[in-house]
Amino acid sequence: MRNVRNNITISVNNLDVSYNDNEQDGVPVIIFIHGFPLNKSMWYTQMSAFKDDFRVISYDIRGHGNTDEGNVDFSIDLFVRDLIGFMDALKIDKTILCGLSMGGYISLNAIENFPERFNALILSDTSCVVDTPEAREKRLRSIDSIKGNSMERYADESIEKLFAPESVATKIAEIESVKDMILKTSKQSIYNTLHALSYRKETCSKLMHINVPTLILVGKEDKITPPDAAQWMHERIKESSMKIIEKAGHLSNLENPVEFNDQLRKFLVTVNRKVLVQSPKKSMVFENKAKDLNSKILNITMTIKDHYPELSKYLDEMPVTIPTEKNPKMTLKNLSQYYESLNSMLNKYLLEHPHNPKV
Ligand code: MLT
Repeated sequence: MRNVRNNITISVNNLDVSYNDNEQDGVPVIIFIHGFPLNKSMWYTQMSAFKDDFRVISYDIRGHGNTDEGNVDFSIDLFVRDLIGFMDALKIDKTILCGLSMGGYISLNAIENFPERFNALILSDTSCVVDTPEAREKRLRSIDSIKGNSMERYADESIEKLFAPESVATKIAEIESVKDMILKTSKQSIYNTLHALSYRKETCSKLMHINVPTLILVGKEDKITPPDAAQWMHERIKESSMKIIEKAGHLSNLENPVEFNDQLRKFLVTVNRKVLVQSPKKSMVFENKAKDLNSKILNITMTIKDHYPELSKYLDEMPVTIPTEKNPKMTLKNLSQYYESLNSMLNKYLLEHPHNPKV
């Protein structure tokens, strides 16, 4: 069991990305992606509930929480590139992805474009459609309104929309925390993200290609992405199940964490089994191939050093990527390229020096 370490920073696409991570090895990974205009702390109860059995990671999308804004226009495509860059930086080949609302838009776009990087999806309070012209207009109006008013007012108006009426009256601590998250987001990031949201692409036409286990969760009183939108996706994603979270609006994981976590746990038990069954087999194949290549590389290197020292100087100059401290990601491809280059160098040398065979 590892405790969650908060506010770790990693460089991704020239950006300092802030994330929380329990850094647990040998267990399936879940990455949580927050909604707008919130940040990674909205996943606090999920991180704590699942940290003993999973590697749990939540990160701040660019311009939110403690992650830099950068200096380019935001788009959901950009957020997806950041997500993939983030996984690469942490050397996570495959993960379970759990996104709420904007986090769900990112998840749907990510699985459409990088299906091989995900082994399960949790789509919470989200939808696959684009903004209607009216919704887009409304977002542009809110940019104007934020420009002319205080962020306090924007935060209060957002809270009314995000939470179910009953939660507005009862979930005082959660509302305070959401308000803090909104107030922490800069006006510039809010404009930039509203723009990205209003021009996002639809993902509905790709739902039928999703072929990983998918759980769709939605607050019964979600006014922003209502249960109908969830039902529509559920009917089109093959391996999906759907659960409506009682006593919750758009922020179902915060408004009813007990039921949210319960549904998530039941789903993860089934996914976990599949993930765990697959990964040892896969990693054994990888390890065996890597072992084989490493031993061939060692043999050929020793041959060169012992019998053809005149070639030794080329060992470090191979025009291929090999694992180093700077570039530690070891793939079968770069190992195999390295071996092929050594092999062809030695063969070429032996052809050119036929009277000098020492092996
Ligand atoms: C969110 O929670 O991420 C937003 O409500 C998404 C949206 O405004 O479309």
